[in-house]
Amino acid sequence: MGNSKEKEKAWGGVFTETTDKRVELFTESISFDKRLYEQDIRGSIGHARMLCDVGLLAQEEFERIEKELLEIKSEIERDQFEYSTSLEDIHMHIERALIERIGDTGRKLHTARSRNDQISTDLRLWVRDSTDLLDFSLRDLQAAFIGRCDKDMDVVLPGYTHTQRAQPVLAPHYWLAYCEKFKRDRQRLADCRKRVNILSLGAAACAGTSLPIDRQKTAEYLAFDEIAANSLDISSDRDFVLEFAFCLAQIALHLSNWAEEWILWSTVEFNFLKLPQPFCTGSSIMPQKVNPDVLELIRGKTARSIGNLQTLLVLTKGLPLAYNRDLQEDKEPVFDSFDSVKACLELAAPLVAQTILNREAIASKLDRGYLDATSLMEYLIKKGVPQRTAHGIVGRLVRFAIEKNVPLAHLPLKTMKEACEMIDYSVYEVLGAENAVKAMQSYGSTAPDQVQKQVNLWKMNLKFE
Ligand code: ARG
Repeated sequence: MGNSKEKEKAWGGVFTETTDKRVELFTESISFDKRLYEQDIRGSIGHARMLCDVGLLAQEEFERIEKELLEIKSEIERDQFEYSTSLEDIHMHIERALIERIGDTGRKLHTARSRNDQISTDLRLWVRDSTDLLDFSLRDLQAAFIGRCDKDMDVVLPGYTHTQRAQPVLAPHYWLAYCEKFKRDRQRLADCRKRVNILSLGAAACAGTSLPIDRQKTAEYLAFDEIAANSLDISSDRDFVLEFAFCLAQIALHLSNWAEEWILWSTVEFNFLKLPQPFCTGSSIMPQKVNPDVLELIRGKTARSIGNLQTLLVLTKGLPLAYNRDLQEDKEPVFDSFDSVKACLELAAPLVAQTILNREAIASKLDRGYLDATSLMEYLIKKGVPQRTAHGIVGRLVRFAIEKNVPLAHLPLKTMKEACEMIDYSVYEVLGAENAVKAMQSYGSTAPDQVQKQVNLWKMNLKFE
């Protein structure tokens, strides 16, 4: 059909005229879906194996198809495969290459299949692989935080609310806080994976097939846990792509929270951290600058993940059943979110491991901001003072200490007693950031024994995963 140099279209039969070049360029997806080559070939081999089981392919035919598909795969990996926009997408490229090599046997591969269930399968395999890769990266990042905990156990940091000094916390309590966030991200990915791991093949274009296929077998060969129960639904379903994009956006948000915090902490004003130089860059004009560009880009790239999620939500809004070509637009956003989040995670782990805490600078300013005021209030509550009254007493003592420009621990007992008769010498055991941290009791609090318990749990869980 058409121009002899042009590849004949797989769908060309009904057409009497060739495709406009502009249309080819506009509709192609090979430029970005070529990264699905491995999943496409894996899916095709699983499909062909099933076709052989049910007698739609002879054993030798299946073997030729499998051998040739694996050869095509290796050519793609060796960069010896030729792409052409006239072949639209990765499915057509691989099928065409197969037909060119093994003729009619290759022409049988697309039996009982459409590109609609094929792309859905490829994308499910890709998202499944990608959730597994992300899970490893998240685990590595958690391990980097946990790896710091023992050596940072002696460091007390200010905890902030409203970015104002609030209560003292152990540095490892901060590290565990991030680990918890990434734990939820991993749980979310695992949950998303359940809805990803469903077989679409067999839906064909949208109505199923009259050929005697065995979807259970295909599911087994491709390690899908379930078989989609409605062909119309599954060929249009992109919920799993949206869910995955949300998981990625949430990871990016968590990374941005952490990056923002560490950017602040590395400023002269905070001076809590020294970032590793190999993870910083300089300024072309200010010779003294060592900038936290990696952290800033981790924070900045969050915009993509949020934007990509938005794109996918809008893309699928209002689409009627079943496959619509709009769905081709789902790939670039989800690929972009994955690539950027994966890259961020891979830089975050070594950055976390190699950053140094400025212990002296942190300790020298720890008595600023009355981090122990809540401990003093709880001391009074333990002595029987009602909470609201205790709050007022401590508020007045803090006001007095601010006037004198001293920490609470430096107020004489006489002053304390004037504020509340019940205060005695034991008060000095709860004042000061370190005492305040130790006084914590509740499960999940920052008390050293509580934190140590959590660190041990984390170590064990990460080891046995
Ligand atoms: N490139 C298409 C996509 O990504 C593959 C499915 C095309 N199906 C079709 N009937 N045109 O969605």
